[in-house]
Amino acid sequence: MPELTTRVPQPREAIRRMKEYHPPLGGRSGLRLDFNENTVACSPRVLEVLAQFSESTSGSELTMYPEREPVEALAAGHLNLKPSQVLLTNGVDEAIHVLCQTYLGPGDEMLLPVPTYSMYAVYASATDAKLVEVPAGPGFSLPIDALLAKITPATKLIAIANPNSPTGRAVSRAAILALIAAAPQAVIFIDEAYFHFYRQTVLDLIGRAPNVIVARTFSKAYGLAGFRLGLLAADEDAMLWLRRVTSPYSVNSLALACLPAALDDHTYLEGYINEILLARSQFTSALEGMGVPFWPSEANFILVNIGPLHAEFCQAMRNRGILVRDRSADPGCDGCVRITIGTREQMQRAVHFMAESLREIEWAEVAR
Ligand SMILES: Cc1ncc(COP(=O)(O)O)c(C=O)c1O
Repeated sequence: MPELTTRVPQPREAIRRMKEYHPPLGGRSGLRLDFNENTVACSPRVLEVLAQFSESTSGSELTMYPEREPVEALAAGHLNLKPSQVLLTNGVDEAIHVLCQTYLGPGDEMLLPVPTYSMYAVYASATDAKLVEVPAGPGFSLPIDALLAKITPATKLIAIANPNSPTGRAVSRAAILALIAAAPQAVIFIDEAYFHFYRQTVLDLIGRAPNVIVARTFSKAYGLAGFRLGLLAADEDAMLWLRRVTSPYSVNSLALACLPAALDDHTYLEGYINEILLARSQFTSALEGMGVPFWPSEANFILVNIGPLHAEFCQAMRNRGILVRDRSADPGCDGCVRITIGTREQMQRAVHFMAESLREIEWAEVAR
């Protein structure tokens, strides 16, 4: 046998330069207010389909590759779009990956207001394009003038989360329209992962503005994060390119079997959203009462400014069985912690333990 090499082959230079992004992927027990998930459960009708699936199948369905087209057409109809304008994905994360693969090559630029959802930078930096990050304006507002000023002929992708994470701030339709007009050579990607808590959308621009692509997820309001199910809506010509890049089988059979029930159960969805909106408003009053600064949010989470004791605060909350997410390493977010909004009952518990944690770490002494 010839002598075997002992060296691991080096990846592309872009991969070597990438920063590691490693969210906690285990040990998340307790009240999980750290990932902006649904904090209760998905629709009971989804659970019924799941039960039927496991009862009625001898396992033979699982031997088949998933058949996405009928469910994709159903999802399109649900959004008043044509099937040719919709792509189901393995979560919005796959959608972002697909967009970066489709539009970013050497010499291209992606524009990104920051702070924002981490996976945009992860997938963009895995390409050979240049990532141009633009710091948020006052109060984490969209830095629209700075973004417009950074658009060049090389700009191929602009990613905007609306509402944004981790800030919860929303972007006006006028700002989105300004970007669409200023960068006709670029895809303006509007990530509406938190649409259900904000209820404003630019989905109506699909079919009218060919450089707009919109994403939705089933991971948040629908409570199906574990299924990994997202959706891209785009002009049908753009969709032809996106489909070339996407695996035909990236959405699994169980998720496809359950999606119709999830889409159909308006009562469940509206009930959950209303509960979260009520809890969000109660929670913001409680934050005011405790004197904890925060940014008004249009999503199912709130960014609070704990200051220098952010890590101690997250640990004190964890010790009480409540997980919250330290975002202090995000650009412009020094001292910030993001707290998912659960039900009113869950948030009352969170407030109780928050007050206790702040006392324990002597936050008021340091904050003063
Ligand atoms: C703005 C934004 N987009 C996308 C996602 C991920 O969505 P999915 O679970 O569909 O991949 C998240 C998750 O936190 C998010 O905050």
